[in-house]
Order: sequence, then C-alpha cells, then structure tokens
Amino acid sequence: MTSSAAQGGREVDARRRQSRHRVLIALAIVIAVSLIVNAVLGAPMSYDPLEVIKAYEMNAAEEDASESEPSLRVELPREFIRKYLQASDVALDAGGGTGANAILMAEVCRKAVLLDLTPGILTLASKNVAAAGMSKMVDLVQGDITNLRQFEDGSFTFLLCVGDAISYVLDKRFEALRELVRVVRAGSILIIGCDSKLGFMRMKLAEGEIDEAQAIAESGECFCGMGPRTHLYTVDEMTELLEAAGCDVIEVASTPTFADTMDAAQYSAPAQWAKLKALELEMCTSSELLGMGLHLLFVARKRLA
Ligand SMILES: C[S@@+](CC[C@H](N)C(=O)[O-])C[C@H]1O[C@@H](n2cnc3c(N)ncnc32)[C@H](O)[C@@H]1O
Repeated sequence: MTSSAAQGGREVDARRRQSRHRVLIALAIVIAVSLIVNAVLGAPMSYDPLEVIKAYEMNAAEEDASESEPSLRVELPREFIRKYLQASDVALDAGGGTGANAILMAEVCRKAVLLDLTPGILTLASKNVAAAGMSKMVDLVQGDITNLRQFEDGSFTFLLCVGDAISYVLDKRFEALRELVRVVRAGSILIIGCDSKLGFMRMKLAEGEIDEAQAIAESGECFCGMGPRTHLYTVDEMTELLEAAGCDVIEVASTPTFADTMDAAQYSAPAQWAKLKALELEMCTSSELLGMGLHLLFVARKRLA
C-alpha cells in the first residue's frame, strides 16, 4: 500500500470514529433530557403560592368567565350547596374565585366570606359582588387556605372549598384541611372539591399521553389546565384525610362524570343541557362512576366531639 493510500484509510477511520462519537453524544443527550422530563413529570413538588398566584393573575378573566358559563364542573357543586346550606349559616367560600358561589350562598344564608389567594381574582369578585347588589352580605378576604389565621376557631357554620384550592396546595394539603376544619363549628357541613387522580389518568390515556398517565400513577400530581401543579386525590385518600381532620364523610360525588368523558357540547341546547344535568345529578354519587370524571366532591360533617 502506498503512503497516500494508508493516510486516506486513516482519515476515513477518523471520520467514522467522529461520527460514532456524535451519535453516542446525541444518544446521551436524549437519555439525559428524557430522565429530566420524567423526573419533573413524576416527582412530587412543594407548594409555592407565588406560582398559583401567577397562574390565576394571568387567567383571571378566563376564570371569571368559566364561573358563569354553562359547565357542569361549576353547576353540580351548586346543587350540593343548595341541598345543605341553611338560612341560619355563616359561610366561608375558601378559594372562592370571582364570587359566583359566594353570591349564591349569600342569597340563602346570613353571611358569606369569600377568601382567595389571588389579588386580581379578588378585584373581579368585588366587581361581581357589587353588580349583584350583595356587597353588604359578602366579605372579601385575601388569604391562603394553608393558614387561616384571620379566623378564630369555629367562626363559620358552613364551609365551601371547591375548584381545586385543596389540590394546588400539594404537600401542604394536611395543614390546609386542618385549617378548613378548625374554622368551622362542630356539626358544620364542609363541601370540598378536588382533582381526581383516576380521572386525570383516564384523560391522559385518552389523549395518548401514556407516560404522563404513568407519572400520575406514581406521583399523584400533574400540571392542570390553568397551569399550576396540582395534587390529584383518590376517594380513599380524601376520605382518610377528612376523617383524620375530625369529619365524617356524608356523600362523595364525581362532578361531573359523563360530561367529562364525552363531547358535552352536543347537549348544549337548553332542554338537552337540563336533561344531561339531571342525569348527572342522579348518577354522580354512584360508586361505580367515582373517579371517571376530573373532579371529586366530598360533603363532610365536622364531628361533635
Ligand atoms: C378554579 S378557581 C375556583 C373558583 C371557585 N371556587 C369555583 O369553583 O368556581 C380556584 C381558585 O382558588 C384560588 N386558590 C388557589 N390556591 C389557593 C389557596 N391556597 N388559598 C386560597 N385560594 C386559593 C385561586 O386564586 C382561584 O381563584
């Protein structure tokens, strides 16, 4: 072999080695990125109120619209409020949003207090409460359900916390539940709504996101539609937490079930919507359906002793 042929061979070998190196480096990057993504998707995270505030400041107008548009996610919990709220009650709406539920409660009971974490949401709540002529009946308070220091023990006789504040508090859910129970009198009704672990897994699988469904199975968390990280509960988990906090669970519902598992828009005509809502209400406490929808609702009573 001539020396120039030998040199040509060495250059070809060097190029092959370089391209093998590049492939190996690219593979290592892909593996590292997927490990990081899996760790982020799968690992439980700590509650950061600033992240929740940031998300709701950004989505305040959307949240306001979603509380008044036809949606069984907000309409079904209202049926449970109507069922349990008494005229003599003093009610706390914790994580109350832009006020639709607090206004509804104040129309029935003696007084309602709406507490929310997000200043921009409270500004919209103030406008809505004034527009409904209920400013004297609804107090607005900025605060966090993980620490309700503004309120003494037993300040309220009815407590509503729906729309997932109890999911957003992640690892602080134990403190939050203790606080929610502390501020109501013995014998009071609490209605607590949260994100559903099995419901979110079902949704992710339906969307082809099997890795996310697997990550939820492991961590019990994911990022929700509005953006914040959310803790997803099973019926057993929330039941145990409520019982440990001193309550008995009276009813558990999926709010909604059918409408979260199909295209509900096909029933948007008023008469059809009324029929769908009636069917959902009739079936939403069926144990066979709990966990299919995206939200669970718990009605509990604080024990007398
Ligand atoms: C999806 S909205 C629900 C509003 C209303 N409860 C409803 O069901 O229509 C969630 C609300 O909870 C509030 N929130 C989230 N985390 C909270 C916390 N730790 N303490 C108090 N409010 C919180 C948000 O600012 C937002 O207004």
